[in-house]
Amino acid sequence: MTMQLDVERIKKDFPILDVGVRGHRLVYLDSAASSQKPQAVLDAMTRYYETTHANVHRGVYAIAEEATRLFEEARAKVAAFIGAPSPRGVVFTKNVTEGINLVAQSWGRANLRPGDAVLLTEIEHHANLVPWLMLKEWLGIELRYIPLGEEGQLDLSDLDRLVDGVKLVGLTAMSNVLGTLPPVRRIADAAHAAGAVVLVDAAQYVPHLVTDVAELGADFVGLTAHKMLGPTGIGVLWGRESLLDEMPPFLGGGEMIRDVRLDGFTPNELPWKFEAGTPPIAEAVGLGAAVDYLSGLGMESVRAHEIELTAYALRTLTERFGDDIVIHGPAEPGMRGGVVSFSFKDLHPHDVSQVLDEWGVCVRAGHHCAKPLMRRLGVGATARASFYVYNDEADVDALADALDKTSDLFA
Ligand code: ALA
Repeated sequence: MTMQLDVERIKKDFPILDVGVRGHRLVYLDSAASSQKPQAVLDAMTRYYETTHANVHRGVYAIAEEATRLFEEARAKVAAFIGAPSPRGVVFTKNVTEGINLVAQSWGRANLRPGDAVLLTEIEHHANLVPWLMLKEWLGIELRYIPLGEEGQLDLSDLDRLVDGVKLVGLTAMSNVLGTLPPVRRIADAAHAAGAVVLVDAAQYVPHLVTDVAELGADFVGLTAHKMLGPTGIGVLWGRESLLDEMPPFLGGGEMIRDVRLDGFTPNELPWKFEAGTPPIAEAVGLGAAVDYLSGLGMESVRAHEIELTAYALRTLTERFGDDIVIHGPAEPGMRGGVVSFSFKDLHPHDVSQVLDEWGVCVRAGHHCAKPLMRRLGVGATARASFYVYNDEADVDALADALDKTSDLFA
């Protein structure tokens, strides 16, 4: 059921929002870069360290067994949150970047040959470009791109030709620059019809929308905890088990083996086959608590709140600044996530961001790890405000007021 978020109450769950900046309240509008953490996540991690810490899958004493239970419980929570059929396909990684590198190195090296084609899009984050560019250098694969079309949407007019003969299609489920929500299912269906597997970068999607890996039509999905109220240092690569079972290990070492001899090794079962070394245990506990917190709010409610707030932001910024502001990406709030990239007058986004900071308003400025998209948009950089469950209209007003002051300062 979609309930309206009680943002005033939610704000109280985030201790950092009580920390002032230069005499102003903190107006945090950079959740697309990294979200803040509720007390419940901080408490779960502290409690774990204070009462339970030991290495997992090793000791047979009580706290080691409890640590293992908590770690595996977090995996099961993530599986349920993204509609994965079983925790076996949920591999803990460091972040989405590592998850995509895992696919490129393990699936890619096993399945791609010189001349094979991989289809990406022009709106990808570097995390879903560079691992494939590296394979292009090493293996000589061909890279194709779905172009950006009108209104911040992908141009799918040539999809049938582009997808023909490709081995893998990799795309973002939500652009971290434009907020675009590409039609992942439609592209995935076309990819599967062409015999390709589908990798979805869901770093910006899972924190903000109801996620069901089957509905997305994906074979691999990457997500990261720190953008969804959890800690840094842990992410997830979900993969179709039949694919993961066939893939060679990515990193080698402890945990990922069943047996090691001086002349060889036997890899472990899924998902541990892909988890070499001591994993991020407290971080998994924190991710589990973040999933509980978001589930408590309800992801339909999170999405409805963000559409409403994005609509308010687009309206407010356009009404107040007219031609002085260019907002990139889809104009229709329901067609985008809560990410608003903009160019303001002829000011450099870094200058804008620095002045906004004087008023406690945090936005990201730069190329947002999407340099090819920046070139395509014809801008070197943008300023970007991004919203989450703890933002409200007062935060958008604070951004607009601070932009007014920026304007005065550079007049
Ligand atoms: N990918 C993150 C961002 O868009 C860091 O800011």
